[in-house]
Amino acid sequence: MAKEKNNQNTENQLFAKIIAHAKEYGFVFPSSEIYDGLQGVYDYGQNGVELKNNLKQLWWKAMTQCHENIVGIDAAIFMHPTTWKASGHVDSFSDPMIDNKDSKKRYRADNLIEERIEQYKQNQQLDKAYALEAKLNQCLNNNDLDGLKQIIIEENIVCAISGTANWTDVRQFNLMFSTEAGAVAEEASTIYLRPETAQGIFVNFLNVQKTSRQRIPFGIAQIGKAFRNEIVARQFIFRMREFEQMEMQFFVRPTTELEWYEKWKTLRLKFHQAIGLKPEKLRYKVHEKLAHYANAAVDIEYEFPFGFKEIEGIHSRTNFDLSRHQEFAKKKMEYYDEETKERYIPYVVETSVGADRLFLAILCNAYTEDTGIDAEGKEKNRVYLDLHPLLAPIQVAVFPLLRKEGLPEKARQVFELLRYDFRTIYEERGTIGKNYTRQDLIGTPFCLCIDHQTLQDDTLTIRYRNTTEQIRVPIAELKATLYKEINLAQFLQQLNQ
Ligand code: GAP
Repeated sequence: MAKEKNNQNTENQLFAKIIAHAKEYGFVFPSSEIYDGLQGVYDYGQNGVELKNNLKQLWWKAMTQCHENIVGIDAAIFMHPTTWKASGHVDSFSDPMIDNKDSKKRYRADNLIEERIEQYKQNQQLDKAYALEAKLNQCLNNNDLDGLKQIIIEENIVCAISGTANWTDVRQFNLMFSTEAGAVAEEASTIYLRPETAQGIFVNFLNVQKTSRQRIPFGIAQIGKAFRNEIVARQFIFRMREFEQMEMQFFVRPTTELEWYEKWKTLRLKFHQAIGLKPEKLRYKVHEKLAHYANAAVDIEYEFPFGFKEIEGIHSRTNFDLSRHQEFAKKKMEYYDEETKERYIPYVVETSVGADRLFLAILCNAYTEDTGIDAEGKEKNRVYLDLHPLLAPIQVAVFPLLRKEGLPEKARQVFELLRYDFRTIYEERGTIGKNYTRQDLIGTPFCLCIDHQTLQDDTLTIRYRNTTEQIRVPIAELKATLYKEINLAQFLQQLNQ
């Protein structure tokens, strides 16, 4: 028990360090921080935006460039309000919430119970854990809010702030943000900020199919903002109120959907490994409790410092969404299959990953404390971000050893040689050691040093971030050497093998 607590403390400390690192080195800032921030909302800084854009670009290319039968769209955030009636979000996109009357703090009732289940598991009280899990699932499936409260009372779950069990009843809380569209109050209508990007794909299914001349099976990919009024926005950018999703809906012939579901399960895990997430920190978690319209669903989970958590969902959603839009919009959503000579509403396999959540996984995965003793017997105390070269905000940093004797001029020439091929920076201020350290901290994989020998024989040193090893290469071979390490085409090709 004490050991568990110690582990948890170290993990919390590690997560706190990662959050501090993200701020200190320009990755993520609390939104409107000068006003003390806004809960569940964050801004990306100069390095964060590069990393996030690189991630989005890799995902986009992995979908559209690697698959001849996937095209992209960019739908609006606002959609006709009936969209959300049809999708079921108006009636049932909610979480069960409960308030503690003493502290006035609001919790998700299911999360409070899940935490208790987790405690039982950690204490090896597995019978208790599974029994409670079954009870929780039963209540959630039956929308039994009184049942949830009953569990909280029976388990004597108390508020972390007040320490009391003085709870309100459990109520459903719709997570959609709404606003008014239209300048004249009487004519204004309630519209929603989309809680997922997927519906923009469903309502455009026929537009895209007809104009792209794609035949089933084919997919539509989209990256965009989504908004959810999360009851408890926490764990930094893990659960946000404004976030970005990268979703792909793959439209297939009915009865083939489970085959495609298995394929996408494999492909998506491969992607996460290819961008550098450690295989042992990734796992599938199959959903036991399925939404009524799904016939299979799995999460890809990553082991964050606070435990294994979902980063991506892969869902076989049957023809639920398209059928509902057909019903509510009174427009046919059918597809004529020339091969089978049949008309049907396609089935859909969806892959849905949060860009911010995956960003957080990447950051946690990359954060490395390099301690121990180095080759010269000195104690190492180095932090670096082990980012994939295609994700790193800066790929190559160029430094002259000294700020004189013709070295800056030569270093600038090297910078000019590389800057249009790689994300490259030039820096002549500061000592070389400090410059290396700064680049380690933001995950730059390659640092180049121009010294006196460079002026004599046109060679320079490349320093590798993870090993700190330095090798000397002729400038004439520099681009080819770097291309071996930073190669988008190779990355994409390997995804398709
Ligand atoms: N269209 C299906 C869908 O939206 P979801 O499981 O609700 O499914 C998919 O969300 C992914 O979006 C999650 O796996 C997660 O990565 C991300 N996501 C969901 N809610 C989020 C939030 N509040 N903050 C950050 N990312 C979130």
